[in-house]
Amino acid sequence: MVGAAMSFRVAVLASGEGSNLQAIVDQLHLQDGIEVACVGSNRAGARALERARAAGIDTAIFSARDFGDRSVRDTALADWLDAYEVQLVVLAGYMELLSPEFVHRFEGSVINVHPSLLPAFPGVGAIEKALAHGVRVTGVTVHFVDEGIDSGPIILQEAVPVSEPASIETVTAEIHAVEHRLLPQAIRLMAKGAVQIATDNPRQVLIRAAEHGRV
Ligand code: GRF
Repeated sequence: MVGAAMSFRVAVLASGEGSNLQAIVDQLHLQDGIEVACVGSNRAGARALERARAAGIDTAIFSARDFGDRSVRDTALADWLDAYEVQLVVLAGYMELLSPEFVHRFEGSVINVHPSLLPAFPGVGAIEKALAHGVRVTGVTVHFVDEGIDSGPIILQEAVPVSEPASIETVTAEIHAVEHRLLPQAIRLMAKGAVQIATDNPRQVLIRAAEHGRV
């Protein structure tokens, strides 16, 4: 057993800078019964790993190259997460599609943050694609992960208006600021058990009314 009993144990997977990981660590780690138990990456050079180590959080690297193929790698990753007894897996800039086996094993317990108002602009380069399309409003989505690309049920969304002249730098900064609020909020809701899939519509996520606006 790693860490304190009774806490809501969260794993974060990240491939890059890790600013969302940092927001999670700063706002949630070892607070209100939430613990970031471990941080995994597919990239040894990810700055997210440095941030995790600086916070005293265990890390590991699961690159597809080291494991032969994606499904073998994802099984090793899943076994590692199970050893930490995590209750929620958060993809925070994790730039790989997880295998269907992984998604089924952690069904309903994997969430992702995406820099657009899904279902618009899924996949990589979402902010660039939205600006190239000329949108007036974009935003941030936190959603459950299914087998597709950014296609799972939506938990939280927040709009970000695009003002003229729109530069990729300013819109990216505004989107990141929203992500750093919305993703911790979604994790807090999950920790409280306030998030459920509607029984009559598997696309619809219900958030217990009492928790809305309180976390
Ligand atoms: C974020 O914009 C997130 O929405 C996307 O990847 C980016 C990761 O940024 N999935 P960071 O590594 O958390 O700074």
